[in-house]
Amino acid sequence: MELPFAESYKIKMVEPIRKSLREEREAWIKSAGYNLFKLNSDQVFIDLLTDSGTGAMSDKQWSEMMIGDESYAGASSYFKMKNAIQDVLGFEYFLPTHQGRAAENVLFSVLIKEGDVVPGNSHFDTTKGHIEFRKATCIDCTVDEAFDTTLVHPFKGNVDPEKLETVLKAHADKIPFIVITVTCNSSGGQPVSLENMKMVRQLADRYGKIVLFDSARFAENAYFIKLREKGYQDKTIREIVREMFACADVMTMSAKKDAIVNMGGFIALRSKEMHAKASVYNIMFEGYITYGGMSGRDMNALAQGLYEGTEFDYLESRIRQVEYLGKRLMDFGIPVQQPIGGHAVFVDAKRFLPHLPKEEFQAQTLAVELYLEAGVRGVEIGALLADRDPVSRDNRFPALELMRLAIPRRVYTNNHMDVVAVALKNIYDRRETIRKGLKIISEAPIMRHFTVTLDLAG
Ligand code: F0G
Repeated sequence: MELPFAESYKIKMVEPIRKSLREEREAWIKSAGYNLFKLNSDQVFIDLLTDSGTGAMSDKQWSEMMIGDESYAGASSYFKMKNAIQDVLGFEYFLPTHQGRAAENVLFSVLIKEGDVVPGNSHFDTTKGHIEFRKATCIDCTVDEAFDTTLVHPFKGNVDPEKLETVLKAHADKIPFIVITVTCNSSGGQPVSLENMKMVRQLADRYGKIVLFDSARFAENAYFIKLREKGYQDKTIREIVREMFACADVMTMSAKKDAIVNMGGFIALRSKEMHAKASVYNIMFEGYITYGGMSGRDMNALAQGLYEGTEFDYLESRIRQVEYLGKRLMDFGIPVQQPIGGHAVFVDAKRFLPHLPKEEFQAQTLAVELYLEAGVRGVEIGALLADRDPVSRDNRFPALELMRLAIPRRVYTNNHMDVVAVALKNIYDRRETIRKGLKIISEAPIMRHFTVTLDLAG
């Protein structure tokens, strides 16, 4: 008999979590304005709000924390991080930042000016926010396959070459860089193939453009390349990672994902000149260039995390757990983005609650239902997150209206996944009885989903 699969780690420290009563949750979510970000964590049993900064560090990472060098300038921890970035990712220069959006803020201060156009694949919301804040525009060039959740395609994160070339032709002198997001968070944790990255590199070279990788989940992307792309089966994750980043001039990194730390980020780049320009903003916004908003101990843990996050056995445990949850949901007939992505399962709320109007925020409604059912916290990736059009101020209704169940790294067991799956099945069985969605009571002008206050519609 073939042995079943099991994780490539064991548990050394545990943290208690608390179940609650439905009546308690009803009161809590109401006073949170039906916004799951406003719940206290002890009001949540299984927290799938995000896989960002919520992972469990290893024993080696914790040991690294103890030997962090907290010197203001020239700390050994800075050099440990520099060496890891050079070794694993292949970039000569880097700047630490406190997280991914801080890297975007620093780098975009150098690269973007008003009126610019930034093509890419499913720009993440902070990326889009930092671009639009500078009065520039994002153009999504993701392949059409990404927007049909029923379609199985190995690389739904891919950039459509025709869409990209059309943008490059139309806005030739207004494009500061092309962004490739690996993996594409907003379209379901979907990967980009190496063939596609090389195509973007070629197009960028033809038009003299910089290629930027938004790299939060680069290792998960490399895992999918190894499993799905012809010619990569026998390559190691690290070999694939090096080949991926060879297509990029510069990268921003939210290390809270694939470097398995609770806080941290960086910019890595090849251009000495761009590094010098970005250093000025780094010092202004983040801190001196050898710590940039990070403690020495955190830089140490991050360096170690880059190695652990690019080990095949770890990635296999991680991604198979996400797949396990996805398969259980599919077995119940629940509509999810297929194939299952790297960091999360994305439930298609349009197909789950087709009888609710999109103006009543189907995915947010579903996320609230799931919380009420079992104390599970997911997150809306839909119309709330899409914000309003910066010019017309109309609500933007994106092609995909999803509820994301993001799985923290090395944190939950498959028993937790079973609770989530059965809770959603119960809701699916009674979906016809959910007749009311939500309406907005108050919202911020940008990135509203974090603070929005909602109430039951009607
Ligand atoms: N890029 C991508 C693809 C992301 O998913 C995120 C964060 C960022 C950039 C920004 O990084 O949070 O360190 O500032 N995503 C989190 C999430 C928030 O829940 O998916 P950050």
